Amino acid sequence: MDGKTSEKVFYITTPIYYVNDIPHIGHAYTTIACDTMSRYKRMKGFDVHFLTGTDEHGQKIQAAAEKQGITPQALVDKIHLNFKELWKVLNISNDDFIRTTEDRHIRVVQAIFKKLMEQGDIYKGTYEGHYCVPCETYVPESSMGPNQTCPDCGRPLTMMKEESYFFRGSKYVPQLIEHYEKHPEAILPHIRYNEVMSFLRGEVRDQSVSRTTLKWGIPVPGDEKHVVYVWFDALINYATAVGYLDAPEEFRHYWPAVRHMVGKDIIRFHCVIWPLMLLALGLPLPQSVIAHGWWTVDGEKMSKSKGNVVDPFKMVKDYGLDPFRYFLLREVPFGNDGDFSEAALVGRINSDLANDLGNLLNRTLQMIESYRGGVVPEGNNESGKSNIMGSVLENVDSAMESFAFDDAMKEIWAFIGRANKYIDETMPWKLAKEPDKAAELDAVLMNLYEALRLAALLVAPVVPQTAQRMWAQLGLEGDPLKMLYDKFSWGEGAGTKIRKAEVLFPRIDVKEWQKAKEEKKKMEEGNKAPAMEHEAEIEIDAFKAVEMRVAQIVKAEEIPKSRKLYKLEVDLGYEKRTVCSGIKAFFTTEELKGKRVILVTNLKPAKLCGIESNGMILAAAVKVDGNAESLTLVTPDGDIPLGSRVS
Ligand code: ME8
Ligand code: MG
Repeated sequence: MDGKTSEKVFYITTPIYYVNDIPHIGHAYTTIACDTMSRYKRMKGFDVHFLTGTDEHGQKIQAAAEKQGITPQALVDKIHLNFKELWKVLNISNDDFIRTTEDRHIRVVQAIFKKLMEQGDIYKGTYEGHYCVPCETYVPESSMGPNQTCPDCGRPLTMMKEESYFFRGSKYVPQLIEHYEKHPEAILPHIRYNEVMSFLRGEVRDQSVSRTTLKWGIPVPGDEKHVVYVWFDALINYATAVGYLDAPEEFRHYWPAVRHMVGKDIIRFHCVIWPLMLLALGLPLPQSVIAHGWWTVDGEKMSKSKGNVVDPFKMVKDYGLDPFRYFLLREVPFGNDGDFSEAALVGRINSDLANDLGNLLNRTLQMIESYRGGVVPEGNNESGKSNIMGSVLENVDSAMESFAFDDAMKEIWAFIGRANKYIDETMPWKLAKEPDKAAELDAVLMNLYEALRLAALLVAPVVPQTAQRMWAQLGLEGDPLKMLYDKFSWGEGAGTKIRKAEVLFPRIDVKEWQKAKEEKKKMEEGNKAPAMEHEAEIEIDAFKAVEMRVAQIVKAEEIPKSRKLYKLEVDLGYEKRTVCSGIKAFFTTEELKGKRVILVTNLKPAKLCGIESNGMILAAAVKVDGNAESLTLVTPDGDIPLGSRVS
C-alpha cells in the first residue's frame, strides 16, 4: 500500500457484546456512534471496515445454558440473534459480524496463544483472587467494593484459586508508555489519557489468561484442561476479523488503521491489556481507542432489577428510528455520561427535527412549488451562500474527526438555523408580490434549496433514512449516502424539478403524550402480571417422580402457635393423612371442610409447628412483591374417586 491509500483506510470496531445481556440503549449507543462514523468516512471516500459482534464464551453462558438444560453453543446460537436483529432495526451498516465461537476466531486465538507461549511471553503459574462471576474478572483487593463486592456491578465476589497461564504483559509496559507519550491522540477523549498513563506507571502485573474452573471457552493448545480467559479471547476478535491468520494482505491493509470504540467501563482492557498483547505479537498499535461515557435512565443506573432498562426496539417503535439515533448522539457531549429520558427525546423531536429541519424543508419546497412551478431557479448566490453556509463543512469535519458527534450536530443545526433565519430576513412571500424582485426571489429560493441539499448530506451519517427522504423530496437522483460531500458545490441544484413536500417529522403534542404516558403507567400498575419465576426445563421423568392424587379435606383446625398454618386431615380413599398447610390467611376452617384437592403424596414428611405433615396440597397464588395476595385451591373438575392419580 502506498502512503496515500492507507490514509484513506478506516477500520472501526465496537466492543463485542456479551450475548447474555438483553441489548439496551448502552449497546445501541456505541454501535450507532460507530455506524455514524463509518457512514461519514465512507462519504468522504474512505475504504471503511466496520466490525461488530458478540462475545460468547465464559462462565455466565455456561451457567445459563446449564440452567436451561441445553448446550452453551445452542444457547449462543439462539441469543446472539438479539443483537443481529437490533442492528438491522437500527440500520447499522457493519461490514462484518464476528462471533467468538466461530472457527475462524478459535483458530486465531489458539495460534496467538501458542506463539506467545513459544516465545516465553505466556507462562504457567497459580492464580488466587477475588473473582466476579458476572463480570468475568478478578478484582484486586484495592478496588473491591464494601463487603468484598465487585466495584462494577456490586455483586459479591468469590474467592478462587487455580493453576493458570500468565501473559507477561509487564515486560512491554515501558514500550507502551513510550508509545502513548508520543501519541497522546491514541486515547480519546483526552480526559481518559491521564487515567491510563497513571495506571501504566503504577504496578502492572502479568495477566492471568487461562481458567481451569470452566469448560466453555477456547481450549489452551496443548493443555486442554485450561480454557483461554474470556477477555484474552475476546480482544483478539479485532485481529481475527480482518484476516490476521487467513488473509495477511487484508490484515496489513486494515490493521494499522484500526480504531476501537468502547464504553468507559472497558478502557483498561483496550488501552492496556490489548496493546500489550499487540506489542508482544510485534503488531502495530491501534490508531486510537475512543471511550464514551455511561447512560443512566431518568437519573438512575440502568439495571434489570430496577426494571428501568431502556429497550431500543421499543424506542424505535414508539418514536421512529432516526429520532432515536439523532437523540443519542446529540444529547450528550461524547465522552461524558448522559441521562436518557423519553421527555428529552420528545423535546428534541419537536424542536430540532420537526421545527428546525422539517420546517425548513417544508417551507422551502412549498415556496419553490408556488412561486416557481416546482423548478429550482438559477440565481445569483454568493452572499446568501456565505451567509448560510459559514464554515459548516470545516467545523463538522473537525468535530467528527475528534468523534465529537454532539458538536458536529450542533454545527449542522446552527447551519439549519441560519437557513431558517434567512427565510425570515429575506421574506420571499413579499418578494413574490413584487415583479421587479424576481431575480432576488430566484436567488433566495436557490440558496434555500442548496442549503437543504447540503443539509441532507450533512445529516446523512446520523439519520440516513431521513437524508434519503429529503433527497427524494428535493427531486434528486441517487443516494445521498454515496455522495462525497466535501466535493459539494453550491449552485449545482439549479434546474431540478422538486417533488411534493411531505412532513419529515410529525410534531408530538406534548400534553397528549404526557396524558397517554400517565394512562399507560396506571394501566400497567393496575394489572401487573404476577412476577414470573420460571424454573429450568426438566425431563418428563422428573415430573413423573412427583406423585399427586385426589384427596378430600375432612377436618381443618387451627394450630394455636401458627399465624399461617392449618392442620388438615385429608382422605385419599385408601388412607387418611395429616397435612399442615399455609393457607390460614385465605380460608376459614368451615370453608375448607369437604373440599376436594390435589395432594402431593410422596413428599418427605416434614415437622411444622411440632406436627408431622405428610404431603402438600396444590394452590395457585397471585403474588405481589413475593407475597401471596390471594389464593385458590386446585380442585378436580368433576366427579372422580378419591386417591385417583394426577399426571
Ligand atoms: O464488556 N452506557 O461486553 P458488554 C453506555 N464483552 N454504554 C454502555 C452501557 C451504558 N449504560 N452499557 C453497556 C463487554 N454499554 C465485553 C467486551 S470487547 C473485546 C469485549 C456499551 O456486553 C459500552 O460500549 O458488557 C460498553 O463498553 C459495552 O456496551 C459493554 O458491553
Ligand atoms: Mg458489561
